[in-house]
Amino acid sequence: VAFVETYGCQQNEADSEQIRGMLEHCGYGLTDGPEGADLVIFNTCAIREHAEQRVFGNVGALVHTRRRHPRQKIFLCGCMMGQPAVVERVRKSYPYVDGVFSTHHLWELPQLLLGVLTTGKRVFSVEDSAGAIAEGLPVVRENKLKAWVSVMYGCNNFCTYCIVPYVRGRERSREKSLILDEARQMISAGYKDITLLGQNVNSYGKTLADKPTFAQLLHEIDSIDGDYWLRFMTSHPKDCSKELIDTIANGTHISKHLHLPFQSGSDRILKAMNRHYDRKKYLDIVNYAKEKIDGVSLTSDIIVGFPGETYEDFKETLSLIREVEFTSLFTFIYSPRVGTPAAKMDDPISAEEKSKWFRELLDVQEEIAAKRCASMVNNTEKVLIESETGKNGELSGRTSGNIIVELKGDKSLIGTFQNVKITQARNWILKGELV
Ligand code: SAH
Ligand code: SF4
Ligand code: F3S
Repeated sequence: VAFVETYGCQQNEADSEQIRGMLEHCGYGLTDGPEGADLVIFNTCAIREHAEQRVFGNVGALVHTRRRHPRQKIFLCGCMMGQPAVVERVRKSYPYVDGVFSTHHLWELPQLLLGVLTTGKRVFSVEDSAGAIAEGLPVVRENKLKAWVSVMYGCNNFCTYCIVPYVRGRERSREKSLILDEARQMISAGYKDITLLGQNVNSYGKTLADKPTFAQLLHEIDSIDGDYWLRFMTSHPKDCSKELIDTIANGTHISKHLHLPFQSGSDRILKAMNRHYDRKKYLDIVNYAKEKIDGVSLTSDIIVGFPGETYEDFKETLSLIREVEFTSLFTFIYSPRVGTPAAKMDDPISAEEKSKWFRELLDVQEEIAAKRCASMVNNTEKVLIESETGKNGELSGRTSGNIIVELKGDKSLIGTFQNVKITQARNWILKGELV
C-alpha cells in the first residue's frame, strides 16, 4: 500500500490525484498514514518557509516508520523539488529518501519507482523541462462531488515575492478540446462542483495555436448540460477582462464567486511586487463585477509585510478591504523565498510589527465577513449539500459564493442541490433550513 500526502494548493492536490491514479495502475492500494506503508510520497509546496519546514520535519520523522518497516520506499515530489538547493539538501542530509522528482516529471513516477525497486539505487529526476503537457494520466479523485480540472500549468508573471514561476516553469495551456472532454466526463460521472485550475487562468490560451480566451473556454464548458457548478481559480487582476465578468454574469452553471487576489492596497507596493495593476484598476474590475453579477461573492489573497512596506502602505490595504467587503480572505505574512527578487530587498520592519499588522487585518476582516453573512439572513440560496457536520441530523453545504451553510436534513440529501432559507449568521457560517 502507498501513502500520498499533499502539502500545497489545489494544483498540488490535483497532481496528487494523478499520482494516486498512477499508483493504482501499478497495483498499489492507498492508505492514510506512513506507518506500515510500502511507499510514502510527499507532494511538497514551496510557497512559504513554513510549508517547507513542515515537509522537512515530516521527512525527518520517516526515519522511524522506515526502521519499523525496512522495505518502505520514500519519494519526494512537488514544488520544493524544483529548487536545486532543496534537492541538494535531500541528497546529502536525507539518505533514506529513495526518489525525488519535480512537477515537470510527474508522469515518470511508474518508471522511477520500478528503477528503485529493481536496483535499490536512489533516483533524481529534477531537470527543468518546460516542454509538453503529459495528457491522459489516470486520476483517483477522493472527493465524489468536487473535481479539479487543470486548464494550464506554470506561470510567467514573476511577481517579485513568488517562487512558483521558478519551480513550475513557464505557462502552458491544455488544448481546449481535452479540457471539454474531461469536464463532460466529470459532469456525466455525477461531479457537482468543478473547479478549473491555473496560476493565472486569465492568460489561458496564449500558448495555443488558435488563442482561445479563458472566457470562451468557460462559456463552452458552461454550455454542457447537467446539474453542476463551475468555478475557477486563480484570476490575476492584470488581465481579468469584462468579457470574463459578463460570461459569469450570463452563465448557467458558473458560480457567482470571483477569487481575485490583490495582495496589497498600496500602488507603491504593487509596483514593487511586479503585479501590473494599481488600486484603481483593481477597484474598477471589482465594481464592474458587483454591478453585473447579482450577489457576487469576492475573495482575495493578501500579503502583509512585503519588504519596504510601511504602516501607511498597510493602511491602504485595510481601506481596500473595507471598501470591497470580501466574503473571505487568505492572508499571509511575507516569507522570503531564495532566488526571488524580493528576497534581496531591504526589509526593515520587524517580525513582531508585521504580526501586529496581520492581527489588525484579521480583526477588520472578521467584522466585514460577519456583516456580509448577516446581510444574507432571510435570503433563499441554492446550496450544494456536501456532508454531515457530525452533529446529530445536521448537514453542511455551500452556496454558489462558497459560503458554508449548516442545516437540518437527512443524509440522503448529500450530493444534491437544495434551496435553503438562511435563518441565522454565526460569523462566517450560515444556518438555514430547507425550503
Ligand atoms: N497564482 C496565484 C497565487 C498563487 S500562490 C495568484 O497570482 O494570485 C497563493 C498566494 O500565496 C498568493 O496569492 C500570495 O498571496 C501568497 N504568496 C505567494 N508567495 C508568497 C510569499 N513569498 N510570502 C507570503 N505569501 C506568498
Ligand atoms: Fe506567483 Fe504571481 Fe504567478 Fe501567482 S501570478 S503564481 S503570485 S508569480
Ligand atoms: Fe501550489 Fe505551493 Fe506549488 S502553493 S504551485 S504547491 S509552491
